Formats: sequence, C-alpha cells, structure tokens
Amino acid sequence: MKILIVGSGGREHAIAWKVAQSPKAEKIYCAPGNAGIAEYAECVPIGAMEFEKLAAFAEENQIDLTIVGMDDPLVGGIVDVFEEKGLRVFGPRKNAAILEGSKAFSKDLMKKYNIPTAAYETFTDPQAALDYLETAKFPIVLKADGLALGKGVLICEDKEMAVDGVRQIMQDRKFGTAGDKMVIEEFMTGREVSVLSFVDGKIVKTMASAQDHKRAKDGDQGLNTGGMGNFSPTPFYTDEIDDFCQKNIFQPTVDAMAAEGRPFVGVIFFGLMLTEDGPKVLEYNARFGDPEAQVVLPRMKNDMIDVCEACIDGKLDEIDLQFMEDPCVCVVLASDGYPVSYEKGFPIRGLENFKDKDGYYVFHAGSAFNDKGEIVTNGGRVLGVTALGKDLKEARANAYKAVEWVDFDNKYYRHDIGKAIDEA
Ligand SMILES: Nc1ncnc2c1ncn2[C@@H]1O[C@H](COP(=O)(O)OP(=O)(O)O)[C@@H](O)[C@H]1O
Ligand SMILES: [Mg+2]
Repeated sequence: MKILIVGSGGREHAIAWKVAQSPKAEKIYCAPGNAGIAEYAECVPIGAMEFEKLAAFAEENQIDLTIVGMDDPLVGGIVDVFEEKGLRVFGPRKNAAILEGSKAFSKDLMKKYNIPTAAYETFTDPQAALDYLETAKFPIVLKADGLALGKGVLICEDKEMAVDGVRQIMQDRKFGTAGDKMVIEEFMTGREVSVLSFVDGKIVKTMASAQDHKRAKDGDQGLNTGGMGNFSPTPFYTDEIDDFCQKNIFQPTVDAMAAEGRPFVGVIFFGLMLTEDGPKVLEYNARFGDPEAQVVLPRMKNDMIDVCEACIDGKLDEIDLQFMEDPCVCVVLASDGYPVSYEKGFPIRGLENFKDKDGYYVFHAGSAFNDKGEIVTNGGRVLGVTALGKDLKEARANAYKAVEWVDFDNKYYRHDIGKAIDEA
C-alpha cells in the first residue's frame, strides 16, 4: 500500500516509523515532513493546510491511505475534501473534529450527555463575561473557544486577572477568531492524565494512558510549552479509574457524537483530571497528542495500517488492540529559549547512535536539512528522545542515557521527566 502522512512534527515521525513496520507499507510519503521522517518517508513539500494540493497528490500517486496527524487540517475539514474525491483517509470529518475545534461545543456535548467535566458558562459577548466575573469564584479558568496553539487557556487567580483575560481573548483577539466565543470554567485540582484511543464511529478502544510535562522548566516551573516530555503508562491511571472512564466518559462520548449525527472516526485524546470527585474531562483532542504519540506508539503491538483501516471501515471490534507492558519515556530536547525565542540551524550530532538500538528512538519534532545536506535544528522543540524499559524507572534512566547520545548548540531539556512516578 501507498501511505501519505500529513504533518511535520514528532508525532508524525512516530506515526511514520510505526507505519513503516507494517509489511503492507510499500511506499510512505509525508507532507511536509521533516529531516527525521525522511528516513522512512519521501517528504513532499505541500503544507498541511493545502487540502486541494494534498488531495491532488494523493490522486496522482494512487495513495491507498492518508493519515492526518495534526489538529488544524482536521478541524479545517481535510477529511471531507479527501472523502469527496473518494480517497481513503484516517481522521475525523470536520463535523466531528469540532470536538477539539470548539471548546464550547465539547462542553455543551458533555453537559447534554452527563459526561463528567467542570461546571462552565459560554459567552459570545465580552460584557456578559465581565458581568459574570463580578460574582464568580476564583481561581477561574478562561478558555478561548477555538484552536489557539495550546495557548488559549488562562488560569486566573483573581478578578483583575480574569478581567484582563476576557479583554485579551474577546476584545484584543489575541487568539484571533478562536476568541469569538469563550468558555469560563470552574477551576479543578488533581493530577492530569491523558488517554489515547481509537474510534470507529461506534466504539472506542483505548490505547494507553500518558502523562505530560507542559512547563518549560524543572519542577513544573516556567512557561507552558507544547510539552517537554512524557511517559506511558501513568501509574496514577489505575484499573479502577479506567473502569469508571470507560463507562462514564469514553464510550458515552463516542455515543454522543454518533447521536448528534457526527460519528467520530480517528483518534480521541481524552485530557482528564483526576479530581477528588472522580475523573473529569479537561478537554478532547481529535488526534494523537504530541509527544503522547511518541510514548504510546512504540508500545503498540498492532499493525498501524490494520487499525486505521478498521476504524475507517467501522470494524474496530475485530481488532484485538495490544500494548507492551514495558513503559516508555520521552524527553524533549528543545532549543534554549523555547517557548519564547530561540535560534535555529545548528547541526545535530550523534543521531547515528540510535541506529540498531532496540527500544531507543529519536523522533524529530523540528529538524531540517541545510544546504550542505546536514540535519540541523529547525524549531523550538527539536527531538524527542524516547526509550522503553522494564519499568518506568528503567525507561526513564534509558531515556536520559540516550539524551547524551545526541547534541546540538543550545540544547535544552528538563531533567525531571517522569519524576512524579517516584510518588506512585
Ligand atoms: N477547569 C480547569 N481547572 C484546572 N486547570 C485547568 C482547567 N482547564 C484547563 N486547565 C489547565 O490548562 C491546561 C490547558 O487546558 P486545555 O483545556 O487542555 O486546553 P488546551 O490544551 O487547548 O490549551 C490543562 O492541561 C490544565 O493544566
Ligand atoms: Mg490540553
């Protein structure tokens, strides 16, 4: 089969690597891809938002299956464009990707179908939001409705901060049209876990849990980032919690989408908070997380192409989803200064050290070839150094050992990825 993967980050590298294991994969393309993905796939210089060009490429090259990794094209309706042309594509249609694309939509869905989540109100008028804050309890959480590169959520300690937040989101339009609407939500406390799952429109099968480290600096200090590393599974996600979530969150969400005439096909990433009153949904993502894909896919035993096809065909019940017991840890190597400002273009040394090392992976988040053909840094997050181990401690030790195998100028990483497991 000929496969096209859409995206250019560490997540798409992990997907390309996983697809490449399948005996069914004859040829893999990735648009636009990156220097690491180029090891498994022919990179095609078409942007992820150029739906017509991508579909034309898929037609001309007789692509049998397209896998979309990123949120923007999914929310923008890439799947509908492909389907209209009779192309097979893995991912939710626009009317289902709204589960991620609109926080107001997802909150209303949860409310209507009794899926546990924080109490909230939705606003389209900034004055009404400001009025609401007069009598609200603090801290409180403001969320821009639409996609905002993971920056549209503000946790406000007091009224002054919240008033400022409403102005930024709804009046200054800091996040553009994502701020047309806003959700104001009750502040919850607890441990955050994510659960990734495959969905075929009718049923959901969970892959694994993972725990992210969003802040830039050790000890969860510094600014929020796209993610500085993570591990899977997380010991805080117990069988008992899983049981509750399967019954009260996962399948009910899939059923709710089907009942709304928006059957969801693809990956749902459930962002959960384990509160004193039980697990509650923080948010849904309509695709693999990045870097969650990097710690979950190396543990998956199934053929990726089989699972994607089963989802598209509504036959996920026929798949026996299997994961290795071995935990996996990913440490993100970033450019110093990320997420604010950083330099790019530094040669990356030592990538060859990962060759033929079972259980060690280096997924590229932001890399490119320079004009000398060297692989250089090309983003805030550069590499995801990932390792398996017989337990989480060993996986963490392995990942940090492998961090030393690669180097580039201004290399920066957190030293405490997975440290929380010491408390488990
Ligand atoms: N109701 C809430 N209570 C406490 N923290 C929250 C709440 N909602 C979101 N957060 C925090 O903000 C982060 C981002 O919010 P989320 O809804 O996941 O949006 P996004 O990932 O799109 O930025 C969460 O990972 C969590 O740490
Ligand atoms: Mg989130």
